[in-house]
Amino acid sequence: MERHTKLMIRLSASEKTFLEEIAAEQGLKLATWARRKLLRDGREEAASEDSPLYGANGNGNAKPSLLSLFCGPGGLDEGFRQAGFHTSLATDIDKDCVATFRHNHPDTRVFSAEISTLTPRKLDRIYGGEFAPFGVIGGPPCQSFSVSNVHQKDDDPRHNLPLAYARLLKALNRRRPIAFFLFENVPGLLGPRHRDRYLRFKEEFQLAGFKVYEAALDAKDYGVPQERPRIFIVGINANAFPGAEWLPPRPTGELRTVRDTIAGLPEPVHNARGLDPETFPVHPNHWCLVPKSRKFGNANLKEGQMFGRSFRTLRWDAPSWTVAYGHREVHVHPCGHRRLSIYEAMLLQTFPREYELLGNMTAQVRLVSDAVPPRLGYFVAQSIRMALGLETEAPGAKHQRFRQTHVREPADMFA
Ligand SMILES: C[S@@+](CC[C@H](N)C(=O)[O-])C[C@H]1O[C@@H](n2cnc3c(N)ncnc32)[C@H](O)[C@@H]1O
Repeated sequence: MERHTKLMIRLSASEKTFLEEIAAEQGLKLATWARRKLLRDGREEAASEDSPLYGANGNGNAKPSLLSLFCGPGGLDEGFRQAGFHTSLATDIDKDCVATFRHNHPDTRVFSAEISTLTPRKLDRIYGGEFAPFGVIGGPPCQSFSVSNVHQKDDDPRHNLPLAYARLLKALNRRRPIAFFLFENVPGLLGPRHRDRYLRFKEEFQLAGFKVYEAALDAKDYGVPQERPRIFIVGINANAFPGAEWLPPRPTGELRTVRDTIAGLPEPVHNARGLDPETFPVHPNHWCLVPKSRKFGNANLKEGQMFGRSFRTLRWDAPSWTVAYGHREVHVHPCGHRRLSIYEAMLLQTFPREYELLGNMTAQVRLVSDAVPPRLGYFVAQSIRMALGLETEAPGAKHQRFRQTHVREPADMFA
């Protein structure tokens, strides 16, 4: 519980009467009215373009700037972009992620690095000037915390990646205030096995200067045609935004299915050597693993059935299971004759139709599995805008616009 303190302001008798009348018109006592007004004005000032808190690196486009850590193929960043943020600098250790991110976000400086080697000065060098983002976003690899990983090890070096994230956040925030951070991961991180580890991460985030909130959200509650439960940890800079509270986005109440999303697409190309993606039907990612197993013939694989982890056939009229495929585990298309194409998996992840994943088939399976669905990222980004007082438009109106531009109806898939 935060401690409250008193603020004394000297007013002349006439000033006091004047302000009391305004407060009374709103049915408020003078002290309540004054507190609300001070906080609102302070937040607006902190978030204004002239404030150092807005981030110095908005690409001249007056959008709050971001540093994206563990940027992957850019699913989370795409959601933030749609909500009006600009990723100024993005980094990942994986070359296919860097190439994919650069291809789809040409205004962002993207570079490959191991997170623990990053310092504010190194970021300055890469950025070409002092790097002062408004916010930091990122979700470290989740495999080491995932309950579906049956080979979890206590000494997995990936357990330390959130600490590297917190260290960099702290160093940046000490130099110039960061308004917020976002950290995404699997719910397993909050489970009994990793509870102590999680409490340590949380403490480090608090020591970095943030009031920390957490929420478990499932992508299917936000119009993503996929069950994907994930945790989101949001930190708000309590010094810069006193009284600001983060609330998770409200579920949108629309359930989208596999049929809504991929019905009517033509057959994809089967993986082979020497293919030219530009010749694939509909999209350069519309290719799939060769259906070698005999299970794919003779109508063996029925909608909704599972044969171990390797053969899970999607149902047309339900959201997909989580798009997170291990080696040769891409879900089977509801037709039962083949696995999904990469493009179909991207649509189930709500990537916009013009988005492209680079790399070979193995890399693309990894990239599409790792991404935060942009549509979920969008709603989380909106909730952060609300918390920081950046949101002036009614959220319903933005949501409507998002649907018009990014949610594809089956009939418009070939447009
Ligand atoms: C869960 S994915 C991030 C997905 C991304 N947020 C998105 O929405 O597209 C985690 C990423 O962390 C990267 N990564 C793993 N270890 C790393 C390290 N030591 N330093 C930097 N990046 C690392 C992986 O290459 C992977 O792309």
